[in-house]
Amino acid sequence: GNVFRMNIAIDGPAGAGKSTVARKVAGQLGYIYIDTGAMYRAVTLSALRNRVEPENSAALSEHAKTLNIVLRPGEHGQLVYLNGEDVTDLIRSREVTLSVSQVAANETVRSVLTDMQRKLAQDKGVVMDGRDIGTSVLPNAELKVFLTASVQERALRRYREIGLSQGITLEQLEKEIASRDKLDAERDISPLVCADDAIVLDSTSMSIDEVAAAIVNLSRTKLAEA
Ligand code: DC
Repeated sequence: GNVFRMNIAIDGPAGAGKSTVARKVAGQLGYIYIDTGAMYRAVTLSALRNRVEPENSAALSEHAKTLNIVLRPGEHGQLVYLNGEDVTDLIRSREVTLSVSQVAANETVRSVLTDMQRKLAQDKGVVMDGRDIGTSVLPNAELKVFLTASVQERALRRYREIGLSQGITLEQLEKEIASRDKLDAERDISPLVCADDAIVLDSTSMSIDEVAAAIVNLSRTKLAEA
């Protein structure tokens, strides 16, 4: 491997700012950004469209194995393709958001996507964000960050992003985020937990730029040590 490139894992709960931060860090280091949540969302979109019930574990497993999911860098961030179709915006819909935790609890879905994610990171120089990157997908990542923020702050950020346009109240978002946290943290396979060797960053009172700068500094420290 190239000693001057590393893999960076950024895990944490929904709305902690992982994707924005990870994209910035990747941009500043010249690395590739990989949003693994988008892959779970693409599987969910496909299942919903094809009337595969997320509760039907066997059917969902079979369905997931047939899908072709591709991530490609675009001008305004990462583009997501499902069987050749650009689904970048569709995977952010409320329907997908409300079902994705259940899809992400499926063992086959996780192993199919984990394999894809490991292949994407095999040449290093990747910033990958998700829930289980440091613990399961890339346990040997040179830098692991666990990014958190209070539920209230995360709900507020989501509200500013999508609440107004999708007609959701702040209270509703707080409830949904808390319930998604619970599902993600309590599932049997690869639950959201902080890796032993991850650095915990609480972004509640930090700006995106401050968090990104902190991670870039951590990566420089790691490189100097290597
Ligand atoms: O980061 P996000 O909100 O787009 O993630 C969507 C869902 O996918 C979320 O409920 C957790 C799940 N997920 C996961 O289980 N493992 C990952 N590596 C990434 C996301």
